[in-house]
Amino acid sequence: MKIISTIDELRDQLRGQLRTAFVPTMGNLHEGHLSLMRLARRHGDPVVASIFVNRLQFGPNEDFDKYPRTFQADVEKLEKEGVYVLFAPTEKDLYPEPQEYRVLPPNDLGNILEGEFRPAMFPGVCTVVTKLFSCVQPRVAVFGKKDYQQLMIIRNMARQLAMPTEIIGAETFRAEDGLALSSRNGYLNAEERAEAPFLYQTLNDVAEQTRGLQTDLVALEQEAMNRLAARGWKPDYVSIRKRMNLQAPTREEHLAGEPLVVLTAAKLGNTRLIDNLEI
Ligand code: PAF
Repeated sequence: MKIISTIDELRDQLRGQLRTAFVPTMGNLHEGHLSLMRLARRHGDPVVASIFVNRLQFGPNEDFDKYPRTFQADVEKLEKEGVYVLFAPTEKDLYPEPQEYRVLPPNDLGNILEGEFRPAMFPGVCTVVTKLFSCVQPRVAVFGKKDYQQLMIIRNMARQLAMPTEIIGAETFRAEDGLALSSRNGYLNAEERAEAPFLYQTLNDVAEQTRGLQTDLVALEQEAMNRLAARGWKPDYVSIRKRMNLQAPTREEHLAGEPLVVLTAAKLGNTRLIDNLEI
């Protein structure tokens, strides 16, 4: 595997490649990331991964500084997966001058759910993904469904900006007890780690009740938030939304069988976890 940090070198290395499959990451790789690499391999060749902790998508009080950086271990994992190039730019390589041109998602998708609680997130993600795409020029790129809203925003961005990159969504990789794998799980202490699967159980309960006779979805969301709070979680949201555009369904749409997804973000101790489940 070639480890490349500059944009010029990356362009030289990938010149003439027409079927590149790309997996952008922020490192601290776990099985979930590796499943993205395997999916990428099924959709293209060569597979290119990137590791870059993107300051632009973190708010001033978020975990940019303490975000886990485990470069050597990551390199070994990617080598085992047969990744051809790892693009690992420094901040100076990717942002040699202040990044004044930004890519903004539309308000109705970018300012809801995660966007409401983490306003820097999606403008930062759209900007860095656009820039990484411009460097790698992939034919396909793979993103996990665990970041459901991110996946939708990137898919819409690629389509609306006519990017020549197909966006592929990968199923969420879960531990045996149901907890979605995430780099931030590493922040949990043993007691919190034992409690953490309750988030996914809550999503399953909400999904089951939504499929059943319960039609007051707002009440369902509130009950789920209360159940989490009663066990010491600090939920930001539990929201049942239309899969199509992440807006709330009307009662009629729900009764007519509109495909839905329930999304959540909640803090356990100091760790903020997100998860979702298609209903
Ligand atoms: O999902 C992530 O790890 C990041 O948001 C991404 C897509 C690599 C952009 O920094």
